[in-house]
Amino acid sequence: MTALGEAVRQEFLLEDGFATANHGAYGATPRPVLAAQDEWRTRMERQPSRFFNGTILPALRAAADRLGEYLGARGQDIGFVGNATEGANGVLRSQHFEPGDEILVLAHVYGAVRNTVRHVCSISGARMVEVPVTFPRPDDGELLAALSGAITPRTKLAVLDHITSSSALLLPIGEMIAACHAQGVPVLVDGAHAPGQVALDLTALDADWYVGNCHKWLFAPKGCGFLWARADRQAGIHPAVISHGYGQGFTAEFDWTGTRDPSAWLATPAALDFHARLGGPALMARNVALAASAGAALAARWGTETGAGNRAAGSMAMVRLPKGEASQAAALRGALLEAGTDVPIIPHNGQLWLRLSAQAYNEPADFERMGALIEQELAK
Ligand SMILES: Cc1ncc(COP(=O)(O)O)c(C=O)c1O
Repeated sequence: MTALGEAVRQEFLLEDGFATANHGAYGATPRPVLAAQDEWRTRMERQPSRFFNGTILPALRAAADRLGEYLGARGQDIGFVGNATEGANGVLRSQHFEPGDEILVLAHVYGAVRNTVRHVCSISGARMVEVPVTFPRPDDGELLAALSGAITPRTKLAVLDHITSSSALLLPIGEMIAACHAQGVPVLVDGAHAPGQVALDLTALDADWYVGNCHKWLFAPKGCGFLWARADRQAGIHPAVISHGYGQGFTAEFDWTGTRDPSAWLATPAALDFHARLGGPALMARNVALAASAGAALAARWGTETGAGNRAAGSMAMVRLPKGEASQAAALRGALLEAGTDVPIIPHNGQLWLRLSAQAYNEPADFERMGALIEQELAK
C-alpha cells in the first residue's frame, strides 16, 4: 500500500506545522487535482465561446459517467451541483407541499438543510417533524423504530443523513430507506460526507434522491457536489437555479444553470484518480481504522468516551472532552486554531465533544499533538 501520513502531506497545500484534524469540514484538495482544474480553466479562458458552446456539455457528461462508475450509478442520473446544500435545495424546493404535510428530518440534520426544510415549510404550511437520535452510541433498532414511528399519513418526505455532521454517526441508511419506503415515504439522503469515506452503491441503496459532496472526502476542488435522482424520480426535480435547460430533462437542467466556472466538476476524474492512487478502498479502510484508534486513544487518555463506541463508523470520530461546557465551545475552538490545530468542538447534552477527521495526510502523531494542545487549553 502507498505510504500515507507525513509521506503524502506534500501533495497538499496544507500549512507546515499545522496539526489539522478537520478534513470533514471543507476537505483539502491535492496538487494534482488543482492542476487538472487549472487545465480546465485554461481551456475555458483560451476560447470562452468554444468552451461554453461546445466543450462543456460532453465534458460534464463524461465526468458524470466517471463519477457514476465510482458511485454505482449511471451518469445520466447524476447532476453536478456546487455542494450538497445546493443539491438538497433543488430536491426540496421542487416539491409541492400542502398545509399540514409533514417532512421528517433527524434531530442531527445538518443546519443548512434544516433551514431549507424550514423554508419550504414556511412557504407551504407543511410541518418539519424531528426524529430523535440518541447520542452517544445510538442503537440502530431504536433509531429505526423512532423513524417508523414518526411516519404518519401526512408524511410526504424523509430527509435522512448518511453520516451526520455534528455527531459523525454512520447511520444504517439502507435500512432507514427501506423503513420509509415500506410506508410509502420517499427519501432524500444527505450524503454530504459519504463519498470517499465509505463505499457507496447508489443503485443498490435505492433512495429516491441522494446528494453528496466530492470536495470533502473524494479530494475534488471546492464546489463539487452532485445530486443523484432515481430514474423515476427525476421528473419535476429542478436545480435551485432555473436556466435554459428548464423542461428539457434532468441532465439538461443541471448541466446549465447559467455561466459559472465548472472546473471543479470537470476535475472529478482527476480527484477519483488521486483517491485510487492513494489506495481507494484501502485508503478508506485505513482512515476508518485511524479515526477509530485515535478516538479511542484520546478517550482512554481523558477517561471519557467516543460517540460511536463499537458501532461501525467512517473516518471521523467523536470524543468527549474531560471538561468544559457548551458556552465555551467557540472560544476553545478559536484558541485551538491559534495554538496550531484545527478541530471542531461541538456541544452535546451540555458537554463538549471534538470531531476528529482522519485523512490520508494524517497520522497518529497529529491526534496526539491535538490532544496535548486541548489539554493545555483546558488547563488555562
Ligand atoms: C450532513 C451534511 N450535509 C450537508 C453539508 C453541507 O455541505 P456543503 O457546505 O458542501 O453544502 C454538510 C457539511 O459539512 C454536512 O455535514
